Amino acid sequence: MRGKYFDCNATTPIDGSVGENLSKWASEWGNPSSIHWAGRGPKLLMREARQKLASYLGVSPLELVFTSGGSESNTTVLKSILKSSSRRHFITSQVEHPSVGKTMLALAAGGARVDYIPVSRQGVLDLDFYHEKLSNDTALVSVMTANNETGHIFPIPQLAQKAHSVGALFHTDAVQALAKIPVLLKDWQVDYASFSAHKCYALKGVGLLYARKGAQLESLILGGGQERHRRGGTENVLGIAAFGHMAERFSQLEKNSVTRVRELRDYLEQRLFQEIPEIVVNGVDSLRLPNTSSLIIKNVDGETLLMSLDLKGFAVSTGAACSSGSPEPSPVLLAMGLSRTEAQSSLRISLGSYHTQEHVDEFIATLKVVVERLRRLHDDGICHQGGANV
Ligand SMILES: Cc1ncc(COP(=O)(O)O)c(C=O)c1O
Repeated sequence: MRGKYFDCNATTPIDGSVGENLSKWASEWGNPSSIHWAGRGPKLLMREARQKLASYLGVSPLELVFTSGGSESNTTVLKSILKSSSRRHFITSQVEHPSVGKTMLALAAGGARVDYIPVSRQGVLDLDFYHEKLSNDTALVSVMTANNETGHIFPIPQLAQKAHSVGALFHTDAVQALAKIPVLLKDWQVDYASFSAHKCYALKGVGLLYARKGAQLESLILGGGQERHRRGGTENVLGIAAFGHMAERFSQLEKNSVTRVRELRDYLEQRLFQEIPEIVVNGVDSLRLPNTSSLIIKNVDGETLLMSLDLKGFAVSTGAACSSGSPEPSPVLLAMGLSRTEAQSSLRISLGSYHTQEHVDEFIATLKVVVERLRRLHDDGICHQGGANV
């Protein structure tokens, strides 16, 4: 079934080796904060996981805070800076994940000024706008490393350097980048970065927040002083152990992503162009994650297409997973200048490390049949909203 799952930016399947180790990790059921015997095992599991993640990221284990996921890591940084900085200005992009976008709205309601960097039709950030808006009142710039819907990669080292030149801090949401492209936190000189375990073949409900040594961090969740007072609440030991376990495979996954998965994605796009007329890949010439393809399939409703593919066992997305089910077109695609109709005809395909050419061929063959059928219905003027019969 995994071979028909083309929605790895929403979440990845859990790696088989994680499943094999679960009962071993679960046998360490003590509270890692306990100082008696039951706490020692889980504490050790957490120490090892933190060490493995730090080693992959090239940072100190002390610079890492475990959270419940990417959303919490993002929210923690933004709210912490509003509290601790005397500066009142924030900069982000128009295409961030809602955990940044909506938190920025909350900061604005709390007295901050927020500027949103526009993107071009090709998904490229408007750097002139960014440079114009930066000032010595800018507290924090938050720009994602790679976009979850289009896969576009942003120039984090340059953005961070510019932010620092006016004394602002820099945060990147690197949730979609981890284990897909190199994440070089120290070279990039970012102050904060967010990660999520369930995008990398580990478990849901665990995230990571990198806070550079010396960078201020106020806890979002107040509690028993866990994570060196940077995140209250008893830690998700099982999920953390799984995340650390996968970190030992990130180098391999990353290598596979930038070579084999990229070739497979390029093969998929080439086959799509050959087999299905009137398909556009959003921002095809811009720097993109190796696994992601954001398409406009003209004269086809994306939601109907998704449901038709689902009936045939294929899983794809029309945009961010959290916004599917909503009839509104993707705000990310609208920000790129797509019309509502184009955005509503969009489909995101995101490959995983396990996909093969046979999986892609099988998908294309099905997509071709479904698209032809929906286009015929479209030409006949038949309303096919709901898609259950197509
Ligand atoms: C770019 C990006 N940031 C943050 C998140 C949120 O991560 P989590 O689901 O772990 O809260 C996601 C998940 O879709 C994402 O794609």
